[in-house]
Amino acid sequence: MAATSIVLSMEGVCLSFGAKRVLDGLTFSVSRGECFGFLGPSGAGKTTTIKLLTRQLKKDSGRINLFGRPIENASDADYERIGILSDTSALYERMSIEDNLKLYAKIRGKGAGDIDRLLERMNLSQDRKTLVKNCSKGMRQRAALLAALIHSPELLFLDEPTSGLDPAARAEVHRMLAELKAAGTTIFLTTHDMAEADSVCDRLAILDEGRIVASDEPESLKLRFARNRVVVVTRSRGTLEVTKDAASAEEIRELFASDEVLSIHSDEPNLEEVFLELTGREF
Ligand SMILES: Nc1ncnc2c1ncn2[C@@H]1O[C@H](COP(=O)(O)OP(=O)(O)OP(=O)(O)O)[C@@H](O)[C@H]1O
Ligand SMILES: [Mg+2]
Repeated sequence: MAATSIVLSMEGVCLSFGAKRVLDGLTFSVSRGECFGFLGPSGAGKTTTIKLLTRQLKKDSGRINLFGRPIENASDADYERIGILSDTSALYERMSIEDNLKLYAKIRGKGAGDIDRLLERMNLSQDRKTLVKNCSKGMRQRAALLAALIHSPELLFLDEPTSGLDPAARAEVHRMLAELKAAGTTIFLTTHDMAEADSVCDRLAILDEGRIVASDEPESLKLRFARNRVVVVTRSRGTLEVTKDAASAEEIRELFASDEVLSIHSDEPNLEEVFLELTGREF
């Protein structure tokens, strides 16, 4: 891969808080236009990693590159190319959604021209005058995402963008992410949600206690941990599990011939199971 297509990278990055090592030799890179998912249980170090990448914290050791330069040399202009949705709300409670967005546009040196379009995109036009303190969690999260997008950043950090959202609001955020990706935005997102990572990310890193325990495309991860089984739900014999090999072919053929098969699918592990296999612990 050409070095110029790498938007950000970490190499052997470590960070401790007091005696506690929170990040332990993180190494990964994210390419332009990619949606990179950082997954891991609570306390794994996801938010801390975003804070390092956005210069809210300093590493103890290792290398961090942003837009092709060591992060220590990043300029204010580089920060204008970045949008951040943090894990705590950055919106002013006593201002309306619209006024918050106008304020963010001003801070980012942009006109308010795009606000109507953004509100429309996130289904918030009708709620634009609602004070943030009166917003539902889903409304807040969508408004916060718009605030992060107000200056059309080319690199977006999203810390658990859908946590606490209902399925409809989650779907809206996912649609928005797909649109941003289609427009070429690079996205670094953290999530606890394996299904979300599986559906929206091009590549994943699974973090456990400050270490990356696996990193790959979601499909490859699933294949790597694939169980060699096919599940057949039958009309009268219950759910059967057969191995994926030539010896089972006759058994499956016989089930079809006797009109027993209600459904048949390969038994792919979900990412929760991948995590359990990698760490021996529940996600
Ligand atoms: N400022 C701090 N001082 C001391 N310890 C901290 C600080 N910030 C984070 N930690 C510790 O670092 C570890 C990683 O925290 P972090 O917030 O990065 O986890 P996370 O993966 O984002 O978790 P969650 O999914 O709950 O958001 C935790 O053990 C946390 O207690
Ligand atoms: Mg966090």
